[in-house]
Amino acid sequence: MRAFIENIARFDGQEVEIMGWVYNIRSSSKVHFLLVRDGTGIIQATIDLEKTPADLAAVVDRLTQESSVIVRGRVRVEARAPGGYEILPSAIKVLQYTKDYPITPKAHSVDFLLPIRHLWLRSKKQNAIMRVRHEVIRAIRDYLDQQGYINCDTPILTPAACEGTTTLFPVDYFGETVYLAQSGQLYNEATAAALGKVYCFGPTFRAEKSKTRRHLTEFWMVEPEAAYLELDGVMDLAEGMVASIVERVLEKRREELKVLERDTTALALVQKPFPRITYREAVDLIHKKDKTFRAGDDFGAPQESIISENFDRPVMVHRYPALCKAFYMKHDGKDDSLSLSVDMIAPEGYGEIVGGGQREDDYDTLVRRIQEYKLPMDAFKWFLDLRRFGTCPHGGFGLGLERTVAWICKIAHVRETIPFPRMLDKIYP
Ligand code: 4AD
Ligand code: MG
Repeated sequence: MRAFIENIARFDGQEVEIMGWVYNIRSSSKVHFLLVRDGTGIIQATIDLEKTPADLAAVVDRLTQESSVIVRGRVRVEARAPGGYEILPSAIKVLQYTKDYPITPKAHSVDFLLPIRHLWLRSKKQNAIMRVRHEVIRAIRDYLDQQGYINCDTPILTPAACEGTTTLFPVDYFGETVYLAQSGQLYNEATAAALGKVYCFGPTFRAEKSKTRRHLTEFWMVEPEAAYLELDGVMDLAEGMVASIVERVLEKRREELKVLERDTTALALVQKPFPRITYREAVDLIHKKDKTFRAGDDFGAPQESIISENFDRPVMVHRYPALCKAFYMKHDGKDDSLSLSVDMIAPEGYGEIVGGGQREDDYDTLVRRIQEYKLPMDAFKWFLDLRRFGTCPHGGFGLGLERTVAWICKIAHVRETIPFPRMLDKIYP
């Protein structure tokens, strides 16, 4: 019977087949220890040469790392083996003896590994990151589903900018220039007026010319949007979502976090309520450490790190100067220079993981903003319709999947949190 390694405890004492690849081989004169991986885990196959028929021993002798194998044998408890079980092979079918696999068990540099990302994904740490990513996605969908949000995805090919014109990727669309979506938000505003509470979840694109640890040119973003939701409600939703993501990963992905050597005590602190501070209060925190920061400027990574040092969980900074933010932000009724925006800054120096706020819902004000931001009015005609036909207060946010996974896994660079990263100088493989 075929067994998957992640469920191997269920097969204790039974004869099973593991279909996978050789992960590593350790041999002495008397015994071979094969580590076999099947994608769901790694199990030790122990071959005692004194008790093994010569034909099987000969097969094992020729095995190499990443050879594809079907191992048949009995499962038994072995406390010293990784995972606590081992398999005692009675037969090994080799589908391919792999030659010259480039990633050996020793440490390699990221510069060496990135061009062979298609193979690097097979390693233990990368496997753990992808499983955490999967869990984060599931937690997000479950959370939004419980809150009554409808998944209503938005287009990738779009006629206009959402998040500024400097990071657009143009695409030739039958002779017309269109752009890869930077965000699904504007379309979310339309579907929210149709369905009440919606979200889109997909790849978004930004021609980021900066090489930083947190920027990809293609990244995944989940964006919930709701009608009659104001700034405080947006913050409640973001807080609830992030708390439930962390809770779920702690519940379901302990093993993966162990592989990643992630200190889970820091994650266990990520409980509601998260602190909420204004931009002005955040500037005061920055000025305690760095007097040179100019109040009114947007925060970059260094400022976000200083802010996060003051808190043991994510912090929400609201009411940024309107000039730092996009054209669609509603301004604060009490101070027109401020926007009803919010960024969530992750702990441990991971920076902004959520950006959002309340949208401008007044037709004339929005027309004026589009002009002030020098955006093409024609491309936004449909968007303005939303302010002509039943406008209402509404808001939402975008959470960057890779930055969230990087923080939860405590990975230094977002490039390891997506199967195939796209960056300024990286489009292969
Ligand atoms: O703050 P941003 O630009 O907000 C928006 O796009 C809004 N339209 C979302 C909305 O309100 N519906 O981006 C949202 C999040 C950021 O907080 C960050 O986590 C992530 O997207 N992000 C990136 N992640 C990786 N690489 C990049 N280049 C990113 N740019 C933004
Ligand atoms: Mg932002």
